[in-house]
Amino acid sequence: MASDSAFKRLPANPADAVEIWVEGQAVTARAGDSVAAAVLAAGLGPTRTTPVSGSPRAPYCMMGVCFECLMEIDGQPNTQGCMILVTDGMKVSFQRGARDIPECSA
Ligand code: FES
Repeated sequence: MASDSAFKRLPANPADAVEIWVEGQAVTARAGDSVAAAVLAAGLGPTRTTPVSGSPRAPYCMMGVCFECLMEIDGQPNTQGCMILVTDGMKVSFQRGARDIPECSA
């Protein structure tokens, strides 16, 4: 689901282009972008839903404080998208509800 982004970027240097996959969709980001910044700049989101009410959430503080940017990044759920830099070929999924916790075999 795409929407108009409130973020406007300076002109890009094509040499800095990095392609990531967000919800199966190819997104061109810039080297040095956080995952949250790349997703917001692409106009994608909300990036997660809350476990209790299912209300939509999107990155807010962009500095690792609010935890509104939790996403699944390269198969790792509950990852703060604002604290991870994009890498070419990275796979990002939005997190819906609580993350899956594997059965414990103690
Ligand atoms: S946007 Fe607040 S912790 Fe990532």
